[in-house]
Amino acid sequence: MDSSFTSTQKAELPAWLRQDMRSNHAGETGAVYIYRGILSVSRDEQVRTFAREHLTTEENHLELISNELPVCHHSIFLPLWKLAGFLTGAIPSLFGSNAVYATIDAVETFVGEHYLEQIDRLQAEASFPELRALLEKCRNDEIDHRDEARDAKSTGSRPFLTGWCWLVKKGSKSAVILARWR
Ligand SMILES: [Fe+2]
Ligand SMILES: [Fe+2]
Repeated sequence: MDSSFTSTQKAELPAWLRQDMRSNHAGETGAVYIYRGILSVSRDEQVRTFAREHLTTEENHLELISNELPVCHHSIFLPLWKLAGFLTGAIPSLFGSNAVYATIDAVETFVGEHYLEQIDRLQAEASFPELRALLEKCRNDEIDHRDEARDAKSTGSRPFLTGWCWLVKKGSKSAVILARWR
């Protein structure tokens, strides 16, 4: 997909879109670290294959988003997003495959909604069609990730896992707010 902008066009991103792209870059960085966190802890072969495949996709997303956002506009909290992502993958891995799949279901559900809001706004404003196509591509992959996790996890979560997934979603929401700001 040819979705690259010239440097002049990049500078012309409206403030709201630049903020969204900063949150997307922060989110994809976090996503890469989630799967790295899983791979550093889990010894379950099914989980490891799942995480390895998703990691490849997330690295690709990060590269695509990075191409659209100059380094000077990256979030100043990137080290925090890396740590938070790593822990979001590593912690459930200590509790087994179902905890991992439930966590990924929660994260990817959130990310899918986050991208959809931006896609809808770009569609309504009929602006930056290449960028919208890029976000749609990323979103489709996140939905696939969500569905894979949802299919793999067992139905009926224990209260602890439900609480953890609630925390993950709240954390993701706060991270977006912070990353949009700086
Ligand atoms: Fe992604
Ligand atoms: Fe994903």
